[in-house]
Amino acid sequence: MIGVVAAATGGLGELRSGLIEPALNRGFRVGVTLTPTAARWLAAAGELDAIAAATGLPVRSQSRLPTEARPHPPVDCYVFAPASANSVAKLALGIGDNQALTQLGEALGDPTVPVVVFPRINAAHARHPAWPGHLAALRSAGAILVEGPAVFPLAEPAEKPVRPLPWPAILTAAAEALSSPL
Ligand SMILES: Cc1cc2nc3c(=O)[nH]c(=O)nc-3n(C[C@H](O)[C@H](O)[C@H](O)COP(=O)(O)O)c2cc1C
Repeated sequence: MIGVVAAATGGLGELRSGLIEPALNRGFRVGVTLTPTAARWLAAAGELDAIAAATGLPVRSQSRLPTEARPHPPVDCYVFAPASANSVAKLALGIGDNQALTQLGEALGDPTVPVVVFPRINAAHARHPAWPGHLAALRSAGAILVEGPAVFPLAEPAEKPVRPLPWPAILTAAAEALSSPL
């Protein structure tokens, strides 16, 4: 069971075709949780029902009531892709102010659940003085970062053409994390 978590970045609209359907085709179960902004974007694109139909699970973006059952089965590996600069920073700091970050933050502190993170950022985000520290914090917590010039060279803000997201590398990282004992 892969818990796909996605934030509001470029390429989010490809989440189903780029990551969810390929993961399902490889035999994984998939449950999707979105940041509130990502949920708004995918709702506007008409993708929420399509993702729920493909995965057979509700798409989460809000916390459950304390009296409600968890809507997704237990997750074996989280894939946070695409991750925004904003949500990567919050995750590194342990902020869980939405359902997506709550799940990821808990998994990051659980040595039995691998967390793969693909930061879909631009070069300006990476020049923020706190950015290297955020990546270091995630790495030291055991997160598997899909990033670097060979995987996703950073563009300047508004640079064209838009670079494709490395969906196959992201899914491979999750499959490897699930197949290697922790
Ligand atoms: C059209 C558009 C594209 C954006 N693309 C990115 C992006 O690729 N990466 C990123 O980190 N932020 C991007 N942002 C900014 C984030 O959406 C913004 O920081 C938002 O607060 C992130 O919320 P979330 O982390 O809760 O999903 C974009 C915003 C807009 C309006």
